[in-house]
Amino acid sequence: MTKVIALFNQAGGVGKSTTTQNLGYHLFLRRHRVLVVDMDPQASLTSFMGLEPADLKETIYTALVPEEDEVDKPLPIHKDLHGIDLAPANLLLANAEQELIFAEQREFRLKDILAPRLFDYDFILVDCPPSLGILSQISLVASTHVLVPVQCQYKALLGTESLLKTVYKVKRRLNTELTFAGFLPTLYSASNSLDRRTLQIVQEQLASVGPILPTVPRATALAEATEYGMPLALCPKKNPEILQIFDRIAQVVESL
Ligand SMILES: Nc1ncnc2c1ncn2[C@@H]1O[C@H](COP(=O)(O)OP(=O)(O)OP(=O)(O)O)[C@@H](O)[C@H]1O
Ligand SMILES: [Mg+2]
Repeated sequence: MTKVIALFNQAGGVGKSTTTQNLGYHLFLRRHRVLVVDMDPQASLTSFMGLEPADLKETIYTALVPEEDEVDKPLPIHKDLHGIDLAPANLLLANAEQELIFAEQREFRLKDILAPRLFDYDFILVDCPPSLGILSQISLVASTHVLVPVQCQYKALLGTESLLKTVYKVKRRLNTELTFAGFLPTLYSASNSLDRRTLQIVQEQLASVGPILPTVPRATALAEATEYGMPLALCPKKNPEILQIFDRIAQVVESL
């Protein structure tokens, strides 16, 4: 069965899009068929994958909110961008928040759009926007699992309560199958005592909610890779330690 994994945290800049891209690529290296879906109007994932969001006519938005005379528009997919497929976004997706308010069965819009594609993929990774709004909610409704990147800094746990509330609300009302794939500590500096303390707190407090995945350190190579428009593994400046960590995360996700 296809695993659909929402990368979700309403906190900004915690590594959701970076993880979506690199985890997606490492799942591909493990011979899985992978689709990554950009559900963020900022469209970072689309840029990270090497496309220019503003140039795109067909995006996830056109499938989510069809024109009135159109019935169902298929999900536009860019095939084989470094081995994985991408359903891209651009800024127009920001309109969907408003336009979906009165849409029938809006909670299931993304789930319905992904349904015909499930046979084509082993993994679908959904990159959520940094909000608890409708775009994140419909991503959670469409998913079998939720993976939460958590930045290792002092305010890491501040938003966790509302994050968990949102996940449990979706699970109770709309998607009883939704399961935690785990919490992923990100942007960790081992030399920083505050980061070390935060990592310990994250591990202690969240382990009862879901598995704690291998920690992703702060690494310049990972930030630079996003500028190249490709996963770290394909960049000129690789970082073997980080590549190994993403492979370990892929192994965990593989066995969900
Ligand atoms: N482990 C890391 N080490 C260094 N830089 C990183 C790391 N992970 C992510 N970054 C950089 O931090 C920035 C934010 O990462 P990313 O866009 O993946 O976060 P996000 O949670 O998707 O953000 P947003 O909430 O805005 O969608 C990017 O510039 C990215 O290149
Ligand atoms: Mg992002």
